[in-house]
Amino acid sequence: MAVFSDFRFLLLLAALVFIYIQMRLFATQSEYAERLAATVASENDCTRQTRLLIDQISMQQGRIVALEEEKKRRDLECGQLKDLVQDLERKGLEKLMDKVQVPVAAVVIMACNRADYLERTIKSVLKYQKSVASKYPVFVSQDGTNPSVKRMALSYDQLTYMQHLDYEPVHTERPGELIAYYKIARHYKWALDELFNKHKFNRVIILEDDMEIALDFFDYFEAAADLLDKDKSIMAVSSWNDNGQKQFVSDPYSLYRSDFFPGLGWMLTKSTWDELSPKWPKFTYWDDWLRLKENHQGRQFIRPEVCRTYNFGEHGSSLGQFFKQYLEPIKLNDIKVDWKSMNLTYLMEDNYKSYFAELLKAAKPVSATDAILKTRNIAGDVRIQYNDQPDFEYIADQFGVFTEWKDGIPRTAYKGVVVFRYNSRRIFLVGPNSLKQLGIYDL
Ligand SMILES: *[C@@H]1O[C@H](CO)[C@@H](O)[C@H](O)[C@H]1NC(C)=O
Repeated sequence: MAVFSDFRFLLLLAALVFIYIQMRLFATQSEYAERLAATVASENDCTRQTRLLIDQISMQQGRIVALEEEKKRRDLECGQLKDLVQDLERKGLEKLMDKVQVPVAAVVIMACNRADYLERTIKSVLKYQKSVASKYPVFVSQDGTNPSVKRMALSYDQLTYMQHLDYEPVHTERPGELIAYYKIARHYKWALDELFNKHKFNRVIILEDDMEIALDFFDYFEAAADLLDKDKSIMAVSSWNDNGQKQFVSDPYSLYRSDFFPGLGWMLTKSTWDELSPKWPKFTYWDDWLRLKENHQGRQFIRPEVCRTYNFGEHGSSLGQFFKQYLEPIKLNDIKVDWKSMNLTYLMEDNYKSYFAELLKAAKPVSATDAILKTRNIAGDVRIQYNDQPDFEYIADQFGVFTEWKDGIPRTAYKGVVVFRYNSRRIFLVGPNSLKQLGIYDL
């Protein structure tokens, strides 16, 4: 009985232990269940946020795709517009050009922001271009967006408008350089590339927006074009004479070769442009750059005695004083020279040296001091020897012609000889090496 009661006690004890363990287990379990629930809740939260993010990302991706499509559409539209513009340009050009007539040269007026000046230039050019329009298609190339210049150019059906839009910032290389000159250099390069490479002209005449032309301007360039083709030692033809002031010129028929690029109204050929274009300067005075010996490499320029362009741009890049002294008194030719009937073979390289030497030999020698006074007492042409640059400046200054040199060459010089008129006779200022260079040994 005692055993049995002991057994019951033990059983009771075991039951109690069991119950206790069960209770602990239950407590632990419910604790875990709570934790689990919390975990699940936070996981749900996490998932929701992830979904939200994914939604946002795919929304953004959708927008990117839409933008890309928009860009593609715009590019396409832009391309179509470009084609349209080119088409219109070509049609405009075809309308201006006779189908059978191969043009002598394109004429481009470089403009920027002076509408009143441009109008005066256009009127002067069209006045004489009208009768030879098919030989000389006229272009106005505008640098930038000045609206009055654009409106002015577009108001003329007789010409083709081109616009140079260049938003690339200019970084000057040396202090004190004017951004304007970088812009001018870029504009020149762009316009000439367009005319020679895109429009395939063989020759281009370049004018600026402050010039008037002479009545025989186009005939002169047509005759000169023939020379340019025949004589590869001619780099370009100019309508300008730096010493072209009224008191220094008289013969509208006379042309000269010059080692000094005259600029201002000039014609060049495609082959010359092909050579210059790749090394065209970023910074100009581009005309000064063209005057460097390495750039014209022994070739010469043709210039007239009497200018075929007149520069009226007092408020341009030229200074006021310079304008009054050198540009305002320029004589613009007013005689209609029949250039077609002129024999210009004397200007060809092989002929010109001896032609020029003969002129020089016929001139009477005069010494540098009081040169003007001595010149008055002589009937014909006169030659005056100079020994060096200061000497040249002293003599040139007495007469009032340009004293300026560039890269060892005086303005307008041919083999160191500067020639101008004084009371209609020719004055030759002859350099120390000029006679030898001209093959003259008997003076
Ligand atoms: C042109 O002038 C040159 C001399 O410079 C002469 O040899 C030639 O015969 C002339 N040509 C004509 C067609 O008159």
